[in-house]
Amino acid sequence: MIFVGNWKAYIESPQKAKALFASAKRLAGRKGVRIILAPSAPHVGLLAPGNRSKVSFALQDISNSTGGAETGEVTAAAAFGIGARYVILGHSERRARGESDQIIFSKVQHTLAHGMTPVLCIGERERDSDAQYLQFIRAQLAAVFSGLTPQERIKIIVAYEPIWAIGLHASDAIAPGDLAEMILYIRKVLGDYMSSNQILYGGSVEPGNVRMLAAGSGVDGFLIGHASVDVQNFTALVKAVS
Ligand code: PGA
Repeated sequence: MIFVGNWKAYIESPQKAKALFASAKRLAGRKGVRIILAPSAPHVGLLAPGNRSKVSFALQDISNSTGGAETGEVTAAAAFGIGARYVILGHSERRARGESDQIIFSKVQHTLAHGMTPVLCIGERERDSDAQYLQFIRAQLAAVFSGLTPQERIKIIVAYEPIWAIGLHASDAIAPGDLAEMILYIRKVLGDYMSSNQILYGGSVEPGNVRMLAAGSGVDGFLIGHASVDVQNFTALVKAVS
């Protein structure tokens, strides 16, 4: 199982970042567990250089520029240089700030060009009774997959994160049956691109629901927000399914 800890902007102190990394290292030794931490960019720069543990690092986003006169941007090359090997792209909290499918596609290309793995977030804002949300998911996948070669497509990790389930509590997460259906649907859409990818679920994953969400849903792991920035919660969560 893959566990991506999306620390968002929850962690601001270097001491707290180091403590979370230390506990993640202990968990990463468990059989069948792959841990990827996504701290803020400065904290990736603090923790990733010289890292020889089994924990990998992700950036929460990168620039769609390739450098130069771009104040405030963090390029894919800079991310790779400090030790990031994954990049979360298209998170709904980035899309909410105006990021288009086109921008996300170019970020995916930059990420791949620098030998890193994109963790591509997709997810509908709400569920409607005539299942329009399925077309929405298909379009989000098409916006990225249609422009890539088969060799590039296969490298992407897809994270299904319905916006209505993000940042709440275990009881607000998707129902396991609905998750299983959606994972099947995503696999079918990816099949149209001849691609078979690892798929994560994200949205209010906590120690109390992770086992239920893992069982029979077909997910390869989880993208975890608030529960990943608490040592006890993250530890309990990983242990619950490994
Ligand atoms: P959450 O966030 O676990 O706090 O719901 C998940 C995410 O947005 O990646």
